[in-house]
Amino acid sequence: MKVVETIAAMKAERGKLAGSVGFVPTMGYLHEGHLALVRHARTETLTVIASIFVNPTQFGPQEDFATYPRDPERDLALLEKENVGVVFMPSAQEMYPQGFSSSVAVEGITERLEGKPRPGHFMGVTTVVAKLFNIVQPDRAYFGQKDAQQLAVIRKMVSDLNMNLEIVAVPTVREPDGLAMSSRNTHLSPEERKAAPVLWKALCLARGHWENGEKDAARLRQEMTTLIEREPFAQIEYVSVADPETLEELEKVDSQALVSLAVRIGGTRLIDNTMLGG
Ligand code: PAF
Repeated sequence: MKVVETIAAMKAERGKLAGSVGFVPTMGYLHEGHLALVRHARTETLTVIASIFVNPTQFGPQEDFATYPRDPERDLALLEKENVGVVFMPSAQEMYPQGFSSSVAVEGITERLEGKPRPGHFMGVTTVVAKLFNIVQPDRAYFGQKDAQQLAVIRKMVSDLNMNLEIVAVPTVREPDGLAMSSRNTHLSPEERKAAPVLWKALCLARGHWENGEKDAARLRQEMTTLIEREPFAQIEYVSVADPETLEELEKVDSQALVSLAVRIGGTRLIDNTMLGG
């Protein structure tokens, strides 16, 4: 496994590769969810390239950039075990040298859900992902379904800007009690960790009601809200039943819906989602 830190070295490694390339962009502190992306990429492409870069521009001033968990040595050992070909680990200075002044903005869907409390977040994501795609030149890039809005935004960017690669969605990997795997789960105290599966319980409750014939989106939101409010450690940021492409809130779930939520468990902000009818 080659580990490269500069854009020039990454491009040189890419130039040596023949055959299809799968790309897994990450912010490190890898868990089974990331490894599922790598394993999926390995089944579909000849060489897997992963990146580890905690992207400062997608964190707001009040967010957890400084405390975002990092463990590059462990990450590299895990990626090596998964037969990753190249790991790109640039510094912030390498990605955003002095005078950097460009950005990629996807409008509309970035203003809803995660975009509302996190202004600028998606512009940080689309800008760094566009840069990574240009540097790595993958045939396919792999993203977790857990960040459903990020996935929808990246698909829109790739389609709108005619980028020459395929975006592949990989199902969320969960702990045995249903909690979606996330690097941020390490911030949870033991009591908060016990409370955290309330997100998944709420999503399962909505799915159960929908499968029993409930089509009223407001009622589904209300059922989830009531359940989460019973958990003392939980504070809801949003509960949404939306169109999976536009992310506009639905009145009725006739065909597909993305049910998603953001909940603070103590000081840790967690998100999760499930797709109805798809
Ligand atoms: O999902 C993430 O870990 C990040 O948003 C990504 C896609 C690596 C961009 O920094």
